[in-house]
Amino acid sequence: MKVTAAVTHEKGKLAIETVELDPPKASEVLVRLIASGVCHTDSAGIEQFIPVALPAIFGHEGVGVVEEVGIGVEGLKKGDRVILTFPSCGVCDPCIAGEPYTCEIMNDLFFNGTYKDGTKRFHKDGQGISSFFGQGAFASHVVVDARNAVKVDVDDENLAYLCSLGCGVQTGAGSVLNYCKPEPGSSLVVFGCGGVGMAAIMAAKIAGCSTIIGVDVVPSRLNLAMELGATHVVNGKEVDAVEEIVKITNGGANFSIECSGIPALTLQALSCLRRNGTCVVASVTGDAVVGIPIEPLLMNKSVTLAGLTEGGANPQVFIPKLVQFYKEGKLPVDKLVKFYDFKDIEQAFQDSHAGVTIKPILRF
Ligand SMILES: NC(=O)c1ccc[n+]([C@@H]2O[C@H](COP(=O)([O-])OP(=O)(O)OC[C@H]3O[C@@H](n4cnc5c(N)ncnc54)[C@H](O)[C@@H]3O)[C@@H](O)[C@H]2O)c1
Ligand SMILES: [Zn+2]
Ligand SMILES: [Zn+2]
Repeated sequence: MKVTAAVTHEKGKLAIETVELDPPKASEVLVRLIASGVCHTDSAGIEQFIPVALPAIFGHEGVGVVEEVGIGVEGLKKGDRVILTFPSCGVCDPCIAGEPYTCEIMNDLFFNGTYKDGTKRFHKDGQGISSFFGQGAFASHVVVDARNAVKVDVDDENLAYLCSLGCGVQTGAGSVLNYCKPEPGSSLVVFGCGGVGMAAIMAAKIAGCSTIIGVDVVPSRLNLAMELGATHVVNGKEVDAVEEIVKITNGGANFSIECSGIPALTLQALSCLRRNGTCVVASVTGDAVVGIPIEPLLMNKSVTLAGLTEGGANPQVFIPKLVQFYKEGKLPVDKLVKFYDFKDIEQAFQDSHAGVTIKPILRF
């Protein structure tokens, strides 16, 4: 079928045009998208920091309606509302154990531009077009593996706000709820109050943390962090964040989540912990090496530094929980969102880079 998509033919460019989309193969579904989130990882692909083969269609936070199901698809039918999420193979040991965020071939499925069988679904003039994250959600319709389409019970108007439950919100909230699992009364610090960090703050509140500290350098983000559940905020440009956090928590925090993507902040996130604390790096910090000082001749602090992808989530289980929190008013992700017409995709990226919009969402 013919669909409309924003295609990247050359590095840094997006062109809205008509392309061919194949019907779903076995275990796949065709989804008509209602909306699609814009995320920094898309920019990394468009700018070719992640070398996805071009031409490519980026976008990996689609939501929409199932239009057609392939052979062997169970649990999804035409008309179902779905949130699309990251792909996983379903047959490696971690996938079978319910831990698809550590799927052994996740990097291939995220970034190779092909599906599990090694082929592409979008074409133009006989040439295959890569799909980012097994989605290519900057398109009016996509074909995805049924594993990465999560059926949810929400109306279309609310569904449009929930794009980033498939990636950014899942990453931030999952770091807290799936990995840290803080006891009520714990203290938790979030470095970087963007889409991922704000989700971590909301999740810390859900988990019953008593002290929730948001660290950022943009005053408007710090104000929103307070609105969404932070009990304290720290402007890292104005004060020594570690000193301030140690003061607020009377000796250091139980947990910290690095959500800024700035390598140096991982060291701060580790240094602000109390003994036995845990720091989770939820962001993608590139290839920087973090020098971790261990006090010579003293007992070390017994802290843990953890790397975690996609919030340690099994999306088919975790996303419906996040939707329930949203319905209960505990995960007000709508406060992060600004909508753009699909044709204004360039503006959405500009506003994301400039920090004007936390979560731009394109509507079809
Ligand atoms: N959005 C996603 O879907 C997703 C998913 C997984 C991982 N990630 C990664 O997580 C990270 C955060 O993503 P995001 O979408 O929330 O980005 P974002 O740009 O919305 O948030 C980053 C925040 O860090 C703040 N910041 C910048 N400098 C700072 C400093 N010196 N001290 C404190 N705060 C500072 C910024 O003001 C901003 O609010 C990125 O590395 C991204 O690649 C994103
Ligand atoms: Zn797998
Ligand atoms: Zn993302």
